[in-house]
Amino acid sequence: MKVLPLVQRGLQTSRLVLGCMSFGGGWNDNPITKQNVLEAEQAVDAALSIGISMFDHANIYARGKAEETFGRILKERPELREQIVIQSKCGIRFGEGSVPGRFDFSKEHILEAVDASLRRLGIDYLDVLLLHRPDPLMEPDEVAEAFGQLKAAGKVRYFGVSNMSVGHIRFLQRALPDQLAVNQLEMSLSRLDWLDQTVHVNQEAGVKVHFSEGLMEYCQMERIQIQAWGPLAQGRFSGRALDKEPENVRKTAELVKQLASAKETTPEAIVLGWLMKHPALIQPVIGTINAARIVACKDAEQQAQLMTREEWYTLYVSARGQNMP
Ligand SMILES: NC(=O)c1ccc[n+]([C@@H]2O[C@H](COP(=O)([O-])OP(=O)(O)OC[C@H]3O[C@@H](n4cnc5c(N)ncnc54)[C@H](OP(=O)(O)O)[C@@H]3O)[C@@H](O)[C@H]2O)c1
Repeated sequence: MKVLPLVQRGLQTSRLVLGCMSFGGGWNDNPITKQNVLEAEQAVDAALSIGISMFDHANIYARGKAEETFGRILKERPELREQIVIQSKCGIRFGEGSVPGRFDFSKEHILEAVDASLRRLGIDYLDVLLLHRPDPLMEPDEVAEAFGQLKAAGKVRYFGVSNMSVGHIRFLQRALPDQLAVNQLEMSLSRLDWLDQTVHVNQEAGVKVHFSEGLMEYCQMERIQIQAWGPLAQGRFSGRALDKEPENVRKTAELVKQLASAKETTPEAIVLGWLMKHPALIQPVIGTINAARIVACKDAEQQAQLMTREEWYTLYVSARGQNMP
């Protein structure tokens, strides 16, 4: 059996990741309520119950309240820390006064952001730190200094990126002491550019594809763990109302339902299994906070193994809304 790139690098983690963006009551200044913490704890317990041991954060989620909510859970249950893998991100800053929202890979920001995340989470180290979105002003040597300092202080074990191209990764990697271990990208049955980029080489249709050329192949060659954000396509193929969705989405949702019924599993397991069948061994970062929906993802890895090529292409072609070139 093939082994996840992150596991090959020595980080023991589950195949599925729980994304914690919805923890903490939303992107506002309201205080965290008991209900917010309870809802998050139920989501964490649902995740643990199906073997999920990795949790994805970012310093900005719910304006810091997502990490803080997770921190409150860990405070009550400190034994959890060593049983789970905690990933967070930095590099995005909110607008302040006349200064717009922006990206920031300066050494100062990276160091400060990690300290603030550790404080909110109430922990000593992050297992993984990702740079959230490419900063045009990034200087690899400066990022390397920040990463080196964080590693030496025992504050971060592994480093990675998110929403980055082959060019960005190679540019940063030249200066970094450790190999980048993760690239987190939007991928799902409703976000197909990562596949269309491969099938449309040398074709006019490829001009409209928004994905870094060769990125899937590059990450596989370099053992970079690809993580998919938005993997449930916000529920489009697993039960969300579809009145405003185009024909191909409605047709694909029906196909997912039929497959799930024939295989005696859930639509969520089919949607995620489809992503996980790809040889890159993608790690879906599921973003639901609903405990029942989390549990509905349980069979995903098994469904990936059971899914035939024909079933996989049937879903891909249906979701594309057009035949293979
Ligand atoms: N790196 C990045 O730039 C980036 C960007 C965005 C997100 N992320 C990460 O990726 C994670 C997942 O992202 P995501 O939340 O966009 O992905 P997702 O897992 O595709 O979607 C989850 C969202 O869809 C809703 N949903 C799922 N099934 C549904 C259904 N059957 N009916 C109605 N609503 C349904 C969920 O609501 P309920 O909670 O009510 O189930 C939740 O709001 C985030 O938590 C975060 O950790 C990373």
